[in-house]
Amino acid sequence: YVLGVDIGTSGTKTVLFDQNGAVIASASEEYPLYQPQNGYAEQDPADWYQATIHTIAKVMKTSGVPKEEVKGIGLSGQMHGLVMLDDQYQVIRRSIIWCDQRTAAECAEITERVGAQRLIEITANPALTGFTASKILWVRNHEPEHYAKCRYILLPKDYIRFMLTGEIATEVSDASGMQLLDIPKRQWSDEVLEKLEIDKSMLGKVYESPEITGRVTPKAAELTGLAAGTIVVGGAGDNAAAAVGTGVVTDGKAFTTIGTSGVVFAHTSDITIDAKGRVHTFCCAVPGCWHVMGVTQGAGLSLKWFRDNFCGAEKETAKYMGVDEYYLMDQQAAQVPVGANRLFYLPYLMGERTPHLDPDARGVFFGLSAMHTKRDMLRAVMEGVAYSLRDCVEVCREMGVSVSDMMACGGGGTSALWRQMLADLYGCSVKTVTSKEGPALGVAILAMVGAGMYDSVPEACQAVIRTKQVQEPIPEQIPVYDRCYQMYRSLYPAMRNSFK
Ligand code: XUL
Repeated sequence: YVLGVDIGTSGTKTVLFDQNGAVIASASEEYPLYQPQNGYAEQDPADWYQATIHTIAKVMKTSGVPKEEVKGIGLSGQMHGLVMLDDQYQVIRRSIIWCDQRTAAECAEITERVGAQRLIEITANPALTGFTASKILWVRNHEPEHYAKCRYILLPKDYIRFMLTGEIATEVSDASGMQLLDIPKRQWSDEVLEKLEIDKSMLGKVYESPEITGRVTPKAAELTGLAAGTIVVGGAGDNAAAAVGTGVVTDGKAFTTIGTSGVVFAHTSDITIDAKGRVHTFCCAVPGCWHVMGVTQGAGLSLKWFRDNFCGAEKETAKYMGVDEYYLMDQQAAQVPVGANRLFYLPYLMGERTPHLDPDARGVFFGLSAMHTKRDMLRAVMEGVAYSLRDCVEVCREMGVSVSDMMACGGGGTSALWRQMLADLYGCSVKTVTSKEGPALGVAILAMVGAGMYDSVPEACQAVIRTKQVQEPIPEQIPVYDRCYQMYRSLYPAMRNSFK
């Protein structure tokens, strides 16, 4: 057996798997997100730790599996969050997490200190507010008393590693999101650290994701019901973990997540960097490989917004029938022809990352006529999100990254209609996997490799991951969607200046 622990933004989920990836027991616990000011987002590392301890203890108890039979633990989690410890290993302040937007000035400072060109060459990304480096500089600039006390800097899941094993360590996939790692060389960048005046001794040792990073201490064993000495492998940031959990571990394979935001993640065995910074390039959890990742901000969010504002009747009917309201919405959208009767939707409710990198962009319905109904609008919303995801795939392909085998994940990935739109727009098959456990399964697979149950991550994925539904592109729909996509593409440039 192996354990996967996923320290997410809304809560922590712990799952015990057998060596075939079957779920034996699972438990989750939620915790708060603090937003002390507009654009700020913080969490308390103690909440993550408590949730980890409680969920592991619960899984161990309910499963009845003897503790000696748990052969390894993998950790996954939200990326980019900043955890600072003092020389007594105590947390100095709440963690500033990935979605916090307070660091625009520090991003300018990073670009100035390192140079825009060198930053892309070394960290493979432009300075971004989400990334950890700008959060470190923010604390230094605004809370010098906290910075003066800082002895160690950790990412969220790596703080949990420290609490479980006593080791100050990280692994390449999550470290990639700090903007301090030399992404091509997979090690801390002395050049960036020197230019930002950050002491390297504050950072943990960097491992590859399936490597053993430490062992459960007697104290953590007592609190969790695990055996002292159980190995903890590197694990991975949530997206890199989901890639392993869906078998996206070789060239040509990719996944699309339709959650609140949408992600297109493609595996690459050679490093490729977009000079315009439209997609992130990070190390992935397969040793010696990378991935590119495009993000559209308002994916599932768009449909949720539509539901909350315009689908009161569907909510009532769904409650009455005992079905999911999204299922009813899906059925309505399916009655409208491809192209939503020439109605278009731009999903930029929260600005856009890929491909526009424009925080000021906003959502648009374009082409409304008196004949349109709510159904057309519903279909236009789903198609608009799919066009935006095609934008991400287009950037990947423009960079020479092959995308030929797509997995669909997240809430939106369960809709066959949405998957068909993706298959037609991407021009490749779109599949789902039987397991719903994405990141937790991904890091459990890394633990299987670390514990010696399998020789490599691709071999373990081959044995564990099973696909179920497949949508193939429908030949007669491809040219129709292509024409609609070209129309969609022409809209944002025409409106760009009006968003300012
Ligand atoms: C990745 C990103 C998110 C976080 C939160 O760049 O910002 O996926 O990891 O889950």
